[in-house]
Amino acid sequence: MAKTLFCLQGVGFTYGRGIEVFHNLNLKIDEGESVCLLGANGSGKSTLLKILCGLVFPDEGRFEAFGREINEEVMENDRIAQEFHRRVGFIFQNSDAQLFTTRVWDEIAFGPMQLALSRGEVKQRVDDVIQMLKLEELKERSPYLLSGGEKKKVAVASVLVLNPEVLILDEPTNGLDPRTQRWLIDLLLELNHRGCTIITSTHNLELAHALSHRALVLSELHQLVFDGLTSDVLADRNLLQEVNLIDEYCHVHGEGQHIHRYVHN
Ligand SMILES: Nc1ncnc2c1ncn2[C@@H]1O[C@H](COP(=O)(O)OP(=O)(O)OP(=O)(O)O)[C@@H](O)[C@H]1O
Ligand SMILES: [Mg+2]
Repeated sequence: MAKTLFCLQGVGFTYGRGIEVFHNLNLKIDEGESVCLLGANGSGKSTLLKILCGLVFPDEGRFEAFGREINEEVMENDRIAQEFHRRVGFIFQNSDAQLFTTRVWDEIAFGPMQLALSRGEVKQRVDDVIQMLKLEELKERSPYLLSGGEKKKVAVASVLVLNPEVLILDEPTNGLDPRTQRWLIDLLLELNHRGCTIITSTHNLELAHALSHRALVLSELHQLVFDGLTSDVLADRNLLQEVNLIDEYCHVHGEGQHIHRYVHN
């Protein structure tokens, strides 16, 4: 049986000034899964992903990762926090929030340099990832001056270079052209095939279908209203409409996998 990686029991989360997002949220994610988190704007996708990657902490209930409780106190231990962030890679919704050096090569090398690796090992890892993601032409450029898609690739590289066991991506295909979307989907499928657990948030139903067997759906009231097969939720027009993932002009036909965002005869 697969090992449970993440377990949320009765989790509540409230932002400052009393903006309650989650109350009594229960969820398990196993090693090796590819899970897609679906929900409209403001439904809580980014907040849930930030809990899973230890950037914010529940104020009710219990969050466990790799069999250990994760909370603010535990993560004050630098050794535990560093180990956790090495195992769980997070790709932000907005790449600008993630990139902070003045050269792509340095950006990718930053994470490995925090580990106990020799300079040669760091260089090898960075060069391998640059080659894998075909970033040779960008490696001397400033991350700030790249296009949105190029920034996303650098953000992905700076996380993959740490060999994470879990990759969490917040709306990864937003703003990417079709070929770059396909590239990212293929990369994520390959990583998942090699055993990396993948958790993505999106409101792109095609992405959910292409990437994940399992879907989680958050309602606009931040409730987890569906946890099951992606094919089942894509076939459930009423639910998709209720949670504002399709509107009345969208429709599903065929096997429920085929979704148009326009009206046709
Ligand atoms: N830093 C914050 N402080 C206060 N409230 C916040 C903060 N970040 C998000 N919220 C609120 O929490 C709720 C969930 O936001 P979240 O960003 O998780 O939604 P989302 O599903 O990721 O939306 P989107 O699709 O627009 O990215 C929203 O009501 C939002 O206004
Ligand atoms: Mg978001």
